[in-house]
Amino acid sequence: MRMTMIGSGYVGLVSGACFADFGHHVTCVDSDAEKIAALNRGEIPFFEPGVEDLVAANMRAQRLSFASDMHAAVTNADVVFIAVGTPSRRHDGHADLSYVYAAAREIAASLNGFTVISTKSTVPVGTGDEVERIIRDVQPDADFAVVSNPEFLREGAAIHDFKHPDRIVIGVDDDRAKAAMAELYRPLYLSAAPILYTDRRTAELIKYAANAFLATKITFINEIADLCEKVGADVQQVARGIGLDNRIGTKFLHAGPGFGGSCLPKDVRALIKTALDHETPMRILESVAAANDTRKRAMAFKVARAVGGQIRGKTIALLGLTFKPNTDDMREAPSIALVTALLDMGAKVRAYDLAGMGQAKRVLPDIDYCDSPYSCAVGADALVIVTEWEQFRALDLARLKAAMNTPVVVDLRNIYPPDEMARYGFSYEGVGRGGGAGRTSA
Ligand SMILES: NC(=O)c1ccc[n+]([C@@H]2O[C@H](COP(=O)([O-])OP(=O)(O)OC[C@H]3O[C@@H](n4cnc5c(N)ncnc54)[C@H](O)[C@@H]3O)[C@@H](O)[C@H]2O)c1
Repeated sequence: MRMTMIGSGYVGLVSGACFADFGHHVTCVDSDAEKIAALNRGEIPFFEPGVEDLVAANMRAQRLSFASDMHAAVTNADVVFIAVGTPSRRHDGHADLSYVYAAAREIAASLNGFTVISTKSTVPVGTGDEVERIIRDVQPDADFAVVSNPEFLREGAAIHDFKHPDRIVIGVDDDRAKAAMAELYRPLYLSAAPILYTDRRTAELIKYAANAFLATKITFINEIADLCEKVGADVQQVARGIGLDNRIGTKFLHAGPGFGGSCLPKDVRALIKTALDHETPMRILESVAAANDTRKRAMAFKVARAVGGQIRGKTIALLGLTFKPNTDDMREAPSIALVTALLDMGAKVRAYDLAGMGQAKRVLPDIDYCDSPYSCAVGADALVIVTEWEQFRALDLARLKAAMNTPVVVDLRNIYPPDEMARYGFSYEGVGRGGGAGRTSA
């Protein structure tokens, strides 16, 4: 099939390249001409394992191309995906749909023959109706159907997630569009990925409900972690103890510095706003959002306590800046609030991250960036593990300790066993590890 992705960012590029790999002919369009020029040179604008090779292979096979001219790409397509950003609207937290609506207007002007317009962007319930109205306004006689096909891939494992999804959700009310979407996803029948067909509004809501539930799970275990610290219990064992119950499940029960990234925070905010607009306030989610916001900054107080309460003038070394490993995405990363609070308290901050330092320099210009975990640790009064990159799991602890001014480690991802840290002479503190050896002193 011939398909066009409007928006060649994270979701548009990864899903476009994967569809091309399935054998479809894909044109990825973007309003950012520099991005398109870079993609045509084979340069990927973000870090995601495997994407560079996948894009190169499908460009060579002439199934994947990049263009700035939306008209030609839409005119020739059977299916046009909208995969533009839907960030939080700055003043009120609603999803900013201006990019989606702009894309819809541009698509409308170029439609030619029956075309499916499928929204991959995460959009509030009812957006498909508005996209349909916009297109009808611009071209009253156009033959088209608007479908909702939310994307569930995770950054850091995006290709795997796209090719082996837990489910595919397609919100569609038109039989021709349903057939086209089935054809598009046919290559996944082999791996028996369940396809859930719903009406369009239900599909739009499924995406928000999924992210809101995940955010709630994380926030729940974070609050249990805080209680563990107070009562002398171990949150990792609590998480395992509850997670082995199949009704609960073990995923998303890792206590840490709070959720961040390009999706969960903005999607929780947007769902809260949608619910308020429909006079059905979502009190649980309002608490989740508030607790998570407070938590990120509170991690700085945890660091301050670990260095004895007085942090002014001290040097704090951070390992990891991105909101999770295997990405360079800094959008709403917990490290931003943590660093800001540490600087507010008068600390000197240095950091090392495997992929995120380029992005981080734009949002956190006032810290020192280092070229390895060990150079980052030099002269530090505390080392804080912020992101659980694989490479931080087996550090040379003796070397690390020798580099530091005082051997204090605050492990916001609980990747080290407290007793091992004690053996190396570290004063060590994790998250929610109040039980037994959870906190060790040098
Ligand atoms: N990043 C993720 O992990 C993820 C996962 C699932 C769903 N989503 C959702 O997918 C959507 C896209 O997210 P993303 O992370 O890929 O965003 P992104 O910011 O990386 O990419 C969006 C791209 O759209 C382009 N664009 C904007 N307006 C355009 C227009 N009118 N015409 C052509 N191009 C235009 C931008 O230049 C940009 O390159 C969002 O709604 C997001 O919530 C993201």
